[in-house]
Amino acid sequence: MSLIDLNTTKSPHILVLGMGGTIAGLAKEPGSNPLEYQAGQVGIKGLLEQIQAAIPGDLKLASRQLANMNSKDLSESFLTQLGIAVKDSLKNPAVQGIVITHGTDTIEEAGFFLQATCGNAAETLGKRVVLTGAMLPNNAPGADGPNNLLGAIRWASTPLENCPGGIYAVFSGKVCMARDLAKRHGTALNAPLMDSPTSPIGLINPSWLSGVKAVELAWDTDFPIPQAGEWPWVEILTSHAGARAETITHWLSSQVEGLVLAGSGMGGFHEAWAEPLEKAASKGIALIRTSRTGSGTTYRDIPEKDPIGCRVAGSLSAPRARIALQLAINAAKQANLVGKPLTWQDFFARIADLPEIR
Ligand code: SIN
Repeated sequence: MSLIDLNTTKSPHILVLGMGGTIAGLAKEPGSNPLEYQAGQVGIKGLLEQIQAAIPGDLKLASRQLANMNSKDLSESFLTQLGIAVKDSLKNPAVQGIVITHGTDTIEEAGFFLQATCGNAAETLGKRVVLTGAMLPNNAPGADGPNNLLGAIRWASTPLENCPGGIYAVFSGKVCMARDLAKRHGTALNAPLMDSPTSPIGLINPSWLSGVKAVELAWDTDFPIPQAGEWPWVEILTSHAGARAETITHWLSSQVEGLVLAGSGMGGFHEAWAEPLEKAASKGIALIRTSRTGSGTTYRDIPEKDPIGCRVAGSLSAPRARIALQLAINAAKQANLVGKPLTWQDFFARIADLPEIR
């Protein structure tokens, strides 16, 4: 492997973008207490140097540090920066594929955002964008980061005949579409994709592959990337035993543009919310209903009739539905500016109704 200079190179290479996370984290006492650590401490060049002996000699890599953060602090402006970096790099003929090291806590949002804003570009240009990260810090015994990074680089450089370009994630030797990432465990090594449809990277599962192709066929235009500072304000509210009307009424006098309602079970919410939600809808606040269970599908008018103005999220979890709603509100505003009478509902339906991979 050779690490080449991003600014001067015209030779074909895999671009590795560093965002931080546990993969770049360091523990004070890695042997005795690996879970007490600080994320985002090792630079992307350092992570690549650690694995360079295992990378095929003819593969060229370039790197760029976009951030080095704990992804719990991920902001919308960082998503904008990441989206623009990916979109621009995809257009660069020297870039064969892109790997992104990212914290796993909010990788679900980053993966979904990249699919919605760059998924079609990646597929059309025949390039793979691959997110990865780690559950153990870089200096912990048995750290999973180096293998995950190697797997992601391998997947980014695997010939296209095996699987089309697109936005993927690799963890623990498995690949999933990045839009299917869902961290559903606090510490398990495969947490970010333990609930996601996957394939081993070394031997592609044909049924997963046909699911990927169906999603890509249906996703034919990317959403615009909101400019930093222009992301619509959307909150996630969770229904629970003892939920109060105030959880909703609190927002009625705010500038919030959308609420994602994470209901219990099939997405039902507490009866105390019914009246304030009607008020929210009549104020023009966009409402999306999903389930706090984190998986499965939310169906229209089940378990009860949906309030007027409330749309169901289909298979989107609350964090994904929130990004989808923000992008849909933004896309509708952009369309209206050029005289197209489209609504957030039109855009939201495009992404919420994509095929699921089973
Ligand atoms: C983070 O999300 O930055 C910390 C946790 C992790 O990467 O697993």
